[in-house]
Amino acid sequence: MPDSQSIYDSVGGREAVEAVVSDFYDRVFDDPVLEPYFEGIDREALYAHQVQFISAVAGGPVSYEGADMRAAHEGMGITEEAFGRVATYLGEALRENGVAEGNVEAVLEAVGALEPDVVGQ
Ligand code: HEM
Repeated sequence: MPDSQSIYDSVGGREAVEAVVSDFYDRVFDDPVLEPYFEGIDREALYAHQVQFISAVAGGPVSYEGADMRAAHEGMGITEEAFGRVATYLGEALRENGVAEGNVEAVLEAVGALEPDVVGQ
């Protein structure tokens, strides 16, 4: 694999990211600690934005059109524990869909850097 290939391409592009995000939200909505945060949310819009967001983080040719991370999570009182669970499910969804370990770690590192914008706002 050439070094210049993005994570987005190496995992299989749009279809692969969609599979990961769908699997990710199945896990999130199944978790009784997390589900209440998502009550009354437009799940289709959330899914569409998450596909864009993960694609952009993975270096894909996709621009993210949602709110910035701080604004998107403001006023929700998201705890460190909830953040940890969400990050865990993202990792599981990536691995479950065949994403190589190095790429899983790169995505989780990028997402982990967002914790100050998501937690406690
Ligand atoms: C792991 C890091 C996270 C990332 C990368 C992330 C990413 C996103 C993205 C891209 C959106 C869409 C924003 C928009 O539509 O404008 C969103 C919305 C949302 N996120 Fe997160 N999120 C993370 C963690 C969390 C956690 C830990 C929770 C709660 C436990 C959470 C709850 C929500 C909710 C409820 C929305 C919907 C907001 C709305 O539509 O009003 N997120 N997130």
